[in-house]
Amino acid sequence: MIEKLIGKIIDKLLIAEIIGKLLSPKIIKKIVRDIKDSIYGENFLKPTENLLGFHGDQYLMNLVNFFLLESSNYVETGARRGVTLKYVADGYKHLNLFSCEPNEEYFSIAEMKLKSDNKCKIYNEKSQSFIPKILDEMDLNNLTFFFLDAHGKGYKWPLRQEIEQITERLNRAIILIDDFKVPNNPQYEHDVYDGQECKISFIKDKLNSNRKYKFIYPKYKIQTSNYKHFTGYIIILMGINVEEMNIPRQLFENFSITKK
Ligand SMILES: C[S@@+](CC[C@H](N)C(=O)[O-])C[C@H]1O[C@@H](n2cnc3c(N)ncnc32)[C@H](O)[C@@H]1O
Repeated sequence: MIEKLIGKIIDKLLIAEIIGKLLSPKIIKKIVRDIKDSIYGENFLKPTENLLGFHGDQYLMNLVNFFLLESSNYVETGARRGVTLKYVADGYKHLNLFSCEPNEEYFSIAEMKLKSDNKCKIYNEKSQSFIPKILDEMDLNNLTFFFLDAHGKGYKWPLRQEIEQITERLNRAIILIDDFKVPNNPQYEHDVYDGQECKISFIKDKLNSNRKYKFIYPKYKIQTSNYKHFTGYIIILMGINVEEMNIPRQLFENFSITKK
């Protein structure tokens, strides 16, 4: 009985070794993707995957809604599985969307999710090369909303370079940075990794000093996301007069706005 079992295991290992030798890792990855695709359906949505963007924070989504309505382009660095990208693509059909994701597996998932949207371009590359490329492609007179989310644990962040590239080339922009330290409000979590801390002093010297900025931080004390703990962020308005936008005043009661 045990001999039979060992024989079966050896057979399986031999088959796996032969398959491993015959097929390249790329082909194996594709087969795995196809199997997952047949399990989860063509949009590759796992049952647990949330369909809201911006980590489901209702107050943030309310404010972002007004900024997206005023914008022509949406740029997101670090698409991961394309959750926020899909949310924006579905809700804001007027926008041209650009995003990047260097991880091949995440990139394929995001690409598949957005494949029917011909206004969305996703690049399988790092943001350091992606941002200059798309800035060359875009009409820089049109307002762009940036969602800088390519930071986390385990790698060197492109955030300082992203801020420099954007504020050098553009006169006006709206820049949302996720996982950012909210001053005097420790309940909001922010990213820290390997000497990098996602906070204003980390990026301040990269903000082009020829531009005018306003910083928006959350100040609400209630958790407005169903699935994520208080996550900090900053919205940087560059060269923008928020009074000229059609935003209800009471919306700003949940935020603090400071000038640089
Ligand atoms: C926090 S996740 C992004 C989540 C996504 N924005 C969303 O809301 O659904 C961060 C992503 O950044 C990606 N990333 C890491 N380094 C990067 C780089 N240099 N440029 C662009 N993306 C990067 C990671 O692979 C990861 O998928």
